[in-house]
Amino acid sequence: MKKWPEHITIKEVGPRDGLQNESTAIATEDKIAWINKLSKTGLTYIEITSFVHPKWIPQLADAFSVATSIERVPGVTYAALVPNQKGLEKALESEVDEVSVFMSASETHNRKNINKSIADTFPVLSEVVREAKSASKTVRGYVSTVFGCPYEGAISVEQVMKVAEKLFEMGIDELSLGDTIGVATPRQVELVLDSFLQRFPKEKVAMHFHDTRGTALANVLISLEMGITTFDSSLGGLGGCPYAPGASGNVATDDLLYMLEGMGIATGIDRERLTDAALFIQNKIGRALNSHHLQTISCGS
Ligand code: HMG
Ligand code: MG
Repeated sequence: MKKWPEHITIKEVGPRDGLQNESTAIATEDKIAWINKLSKTGLTYIEITSFVHPKWIPQLADAFSVATSIERVPGVTYAALVPNQKGLEKALESEVDEVSVFMSASETHNRKNINKSIADTFPVLSEVVREAKSASKTVRGYVSTVFGCPYEGAISVEQVMKVAEKLFEMGIDELSLGDTIGVATPRQVELVLDSFLQRFPKEKVAMHFHDTRGTALANVLISLEMGITTFDSSLGGLGGCPYAPGASGNVATDDLLYMLEGMGIATGIDRERLTDAALFIQNKIGRALNSHHLQTISCGS
């Protein structure tokens, strides 16, 4: 019998990563109602929005209203993505609990996504991390395109490690490794984690898989076997990056929960409440979402 962790933490990124690529405009009050439902599922972490330029991500232009109107449930960490000083100011004003900085391991994707070279991004994020910390916030870092870039193809583990090293030097509390365009396979995840876990403690590493090619749950499984206990996911499998052509949904929180429950791994999440929250956002989006779980419900099985 494999040795799996007894408990894992699921970080729900649907309201941010899920919605940022969604072309249907979702009303601010519906986002708030959705996050309020998510807060009552037992999830302990919700990435609620991002304080990026509204021209770049129009769907999240209401970040401040969302962040200041949701009901904050004790025990839930409410996080937001921040690209720079201006975003940080808004994030601090709206009193999110955690700030997430992000950049890419790929030079081209970094430029397309945040309009800067990798070298020019470091001092910007360093300042954001410093100020967020002095405001007593925890800080999460994301590295995207870890397993492949839509513009450059393969990305070397050394390049990912270089970016990760810098982010940890800045003082981030946790690093999320993103398979932004969903190209990773378990063998590749194993190779990357092998190098990573020799250098960084597994408690500080989270995995962020997209399910573009159907490999996300297999990638979760190999990560679990390597001792990773934090995973990002998006309810219903919503998601994608508008600056990564071909990127589709994140691994679905509801599918992840199904797999973990079946394996006897605790998450603290109530399946019925989670399903209720999934049906709510599916209804607002107005089309069937990608998760297998939601599809089994609509087929009545
Ligand atoms: P820029 O145009 O280079 O910004 O954009 P700038 O610093 O030159 O400023 C230009 C104007 O934007 C100025 O206004 C600034 O004030 C304003 P003006 O003086 O012209 O009136 N500005 C802002 N306004 C609102 N909020 C801000 C902000 N910053 C500057 N934060 C910028 C640079 C980073 C802002 C832009 O490129 C941007 O917003 N990019 C974000 C794109 C994005 O969100 N992409 C998706 C993220 S998901 C991801 O990366 C992957 C992940 O999910 C993991 C995975 O899946 O692998 C995390
Ligand atoms: Mg993502």
